[in-house]
Amino acid sequence: MFRNNSFNRGLVVWATALAALISHAEPIQFSEHVSRDVQPASFNPGDIWKDDQGVHINAHGGGVLLHNGTYYWFGEHKVAGHAGNRAQVGVHVYSSKDLTRWKDEGIALEVSADPESDIVKGCIIERPKVIYNTKTQKFVMWFHLELKGRGYDAARSGIAISDTPSGPYTYIRSIRPNAGHWPINVAAEEKDPASIERTQKENEAFSGGPTPKHAQFNILGSHFEGGQMARDMNLFVDDDGQAYHIYSSEHNSTLHISLLTEDYLDHAGTYTRNFPFRWMEAPALFKRKGKYYIVASGCTGWAPNAARSAVADSILGPWRELGNPCVGTNPQNQLGPDLTFGGQSTCVFPVMGKKDAYIAMFDLWRPDDAIDGRYVWLPVTFQEDGLQVEWRDSWNLSVFNQ
Ligand code: DGJ
Repeated sequence: MFRNNSFNRGLVVWATALAALISHAEPIQFSEHVSRDVQPASFNPGDIWKDDQGVHINAHGGGVLLHNGTYYWFGEHKVAGHAGNRAQVGVHVYSSKDLTRWKDEGIALEVSADPESDIVKGCIIERPKVIYNTKTQKFVMWFHLELKGRGYDAARSGIAISDTPSGPYTYIRSIRPNAGHWPINVAAEEKDPASIERTQKENEAFSGGPTPKHAQFNILGSHFEGGQMARDMNLFVDDDGQAYHIYSSEHNSTLHISLLTEDYLDHAGTYTRNFPFRWMEAPALFKRKGKYYIVASGCTGWAPNAARSAVADSILGPWRELGNPCVGTNPQNQLGPDLTFGGQSTCVFPVMGKKDAYIAMFDLWRPDDAIDGRYVWLPVTFQEDGLQVEWRDSWNLSVFNQ
């Protein structure tokens, strides 16, 4: 087989050395075995999930981008303790071919040391998501941004851009969506100057969680000029290349869905209000067989609540609620569907090369030691009119072959 004699001699020398090594040394760990030891090719919801360095993956409130056959998982890099709930490092990114074994690609977007920057260390960066713009050939990251020292009052959206999926991303700016634009489905009374003035006199004294007060005021109108609030968020690119920003607005009481501009760097001014006063957070939007679906949560801070789901024929609505898609119980904490196994949704994405295969990602938050937050990834199944996310202790992609 080998024609070259000196190559053959070399081969014999190497084979002899290798045999000596095998007989005297510890078993050799080939790289495939190393990575198998680090993380088996299965999903084990709620467990420590190690990357290629043997470190628990640090990408909370994350999202998955599929680009050229590789998945990229972006998420909040958390540090230990309660301080980990603020951005001390930035947005972390990992890459994978099989969705179970992830390579640490480092920090995609770093916080700034400049106290004048919106993204100065100590601000809040949550739920980063990345989409690829085929026209500009740029990777565009959006995230929920809260300015340092202002709690959750700013309710802004940050935007960053990169030429490569893993970054580094360059921070561009932060905005409040759709300043000076009314939603397509605005009600006449929301444009009423008297109700806008009455609401503005409240000086933003609205809680970020469910109260009946919000419905008695005109929060949408009061933010018309300065731009709408945007907290928990996600991005979605439709088959026609148009991209959308989905975000909890109006002090978290109502979900907005907004078209982005062609370059994905701004809102286009076309948007709808959805699920008014249903207090939906953690929206994860996806498309299947021409229909749009949302999995989301209620609004209870870091504490879990019952998941929601909804369906629509058009991404801008109208949306129809379907109920809680969760089934089963997480044996690690005994939490069932009424508390989403202890988790909160963050993304639902299709699996490459598998038919009708979608994975729902949830976070198990640990606000007192943020770095220890865990991940629950589960397959989504579909019924005639609805979807289901059933708890599994351990599973792999073969479930999609059945
Ligand atoms: C729930 C949100 O979904 C999280 O992203 C985070 O903002 C927490 N609230 C903060 O309490």
